[in-house]
Amino acid sequence: MTSGYPIRPLEEDDFLPIHRTLTAWWDDWGDPQAANQRMLLLPRLFFQHFADISMVVTDPRDEVAAYLIGFMSQSRAGQAYIHFVGVHPDLRGHGLGGRLYRRFFELCASRGATRVSCVTSPGNIRSIGFHRALGFEVATGRPHSGGFDVQPDYDGKGLDRVCFVRSLEPIATPDIEKSTSGGGHDVSAP
Ligand SMILES: CC(C)(COP(=O)(O)OP(=O)(O)OC[C@H]1O[C@@H](n2cnc3c(N)ncnc32)[C@H](O)[C@@H]1OP(=O)(O)O)[C@@H](O)C(=O)NCCC(=O)NCCS
Repeated sequence: MTSGYPIRPLEEDDFLPIHRTLTAWWDDWGDPQAANQRMLLLPRLFFQHFADISMVVTDPRDEVAAYLIGFMSQSRAGQAYIHFVGVHPDLRGHGLGGRLYRRFFELCASRGATRVSCVTSPGNIRSIGFHRALGFEVATGRPHSGGFDVQPDYDGKGLDRVCFVRSLEPIATPDIEKSTSGGGHDVSAP
């Protein structure tokens, strides 16, 4: 269904179209603050200064179908970080998120990354299942009733987070659409 949708690098002009998805693509069960919180997570600076290995998938009408915002760590050599990912609700479960992640693994591995990390909220069960399916391990922390560990107060007082870590095999050149190996056991929090 979506296998022919192209992946291209993120551009600054994607800022407003992607911001519109932050309202349109999420069902927030009536929480009016949730979309604003997502918008604060994605200011324009990401589209200006963190675009190198961030990506957009477009549909046949050239509309945004999915995106991944990630970067190489400025401070931790060999580490990459996935900050935000979104797939159009009608297209979820068809492999787009996995394609974006595998492409990101290749791009950051070709830049010397051997470890990629990301975080999600304890309530985002879909995201937790997705990251586990893609070979991420949950960092050891405080046990949560959902059957995974959380890092207490990770993003501020009361803002616990599930932290994911995945090892990557170093590669010389990115090879689009082919899967990578990985899935190491270093599970300290990012
Ligand atoms: C999470 C999200 C990005 C997944 O994208 P997707 O395109 O639906 O995922 P895919 O179809 O590529 O699935 C990739 C793998 O994850 C698995 N997966 C996806 N959703 C899952 C779930 N809810 N539970 C368990 N596994 C899941 C798939 O089975 C697949 O596994 P496989 O490679 O072994 O077949 C998408 O649901 C989304 O946009 N959610 C809202 C935004 C969000 O929560 N982002 C994450 C936090 S910022």
